[in-house]
Amino acid sequence: MTAPIETYTLGYDAYAMRFLVRRSLESHGAFILPFVVPGLEVLDVGCGPGVMTLDLARRIGTGRITGLDMNEAQVRMGVQAAAAGGVSNAQFETGSAYALPFPDASFDLLFSHALLEHLREPQRAMAEFLRVLRPGGVLGVATPDWGGFLFGPPSPALTAAVQAYMGLQQRNGGDVSIGRRLGQIAADAGFEQVRQRARYENYDPLSIIGELLAFQLEDDGQPEHAATLRAWQRTPHGMFSQAWVACTGRKPLR
Ligand SMILES: C[S@@+](CC[C@H](N)C(=O)[O-])C[C@H]1O[C@@H](n2cnc3c(N)ncnc32)[C@H](O)[C@@H]1O
Repeated sequence: MTAPIETYTLGYDAYAMRFLVRRSLESHGAFILPFVVPGLEVLDVGCGPGVMTLDLARRIGTGRITGLDMNEAQVRMGVQAAAAGGVSNAQFETGSAYALPFPDASFDLLFSHALLEHLREPQRAMAEFLRVLRPGGVLGVATPDWGGFLFGPPSPALTAAVQAYMGLQQRNGGDVSIGRRLGQIAADAGFEQVRQRARYENYDPLSIIGELLAFQLEDDGQPEHAATLRAWQRTPHGMFSQAWVACTGRKPLR
């Protein structure tokens, strides 16, 4: 089966990298911590530059983690960060979420943060997540849901700019409202004990998200919306609070 055609909206420029390397397991992946114990075999799908992958590696002690990403440069960043941080139980590989390069039942824990919202066929990726987990293995995924975002001060121009970005991600094959569907997608794939919860991330300074979205919109030929975002991010009392949904589940024992 061929992989669906989609474009990863965020891209790999300096703004995107600055945006991703601020994350940590504590700040963005705390929902998985109750399941993380020493000795686990873990897979992190769509690992990006590997910051959260390495946080997980440090917590699993004698266990082993593989960070997988379709982009070779991200994989190289993960390898370099592991070497720089002296983390020896993490490895990084290129590969697709739609065809994970591992045999069935290879992992105890599958983590995937901020990937599924970019996929045209998230259900197909979820089937792969189930396949590579051992019976009883744990799923932990998280995505934003743009239906829950709070941004201000409100203005028609800001609303239009945010909607333009949402339209871009949808056109690229993603789903900006996938957060609220994660539980259903996991259950439909065959996971049990599925739980979902939401939280907010507040961007401070606003330029962390403002510049990222402006850059993508400019690149897409929408300079007027980019200009709106750049003006807005200088607003003294502006806010951008992003809703994240996390979903956990378990592969049935049989
Ligand atoms: C938003 S980044 C998330 C990185 C990291 N997990 C984090 O939350 O900081 C999404 C990553 O998924 C990767 N990606 C996108 N589509 C993919 C696919 N079909 N298979 C594997 N990786 C993919 C991208 O290359 C990118 O590095």
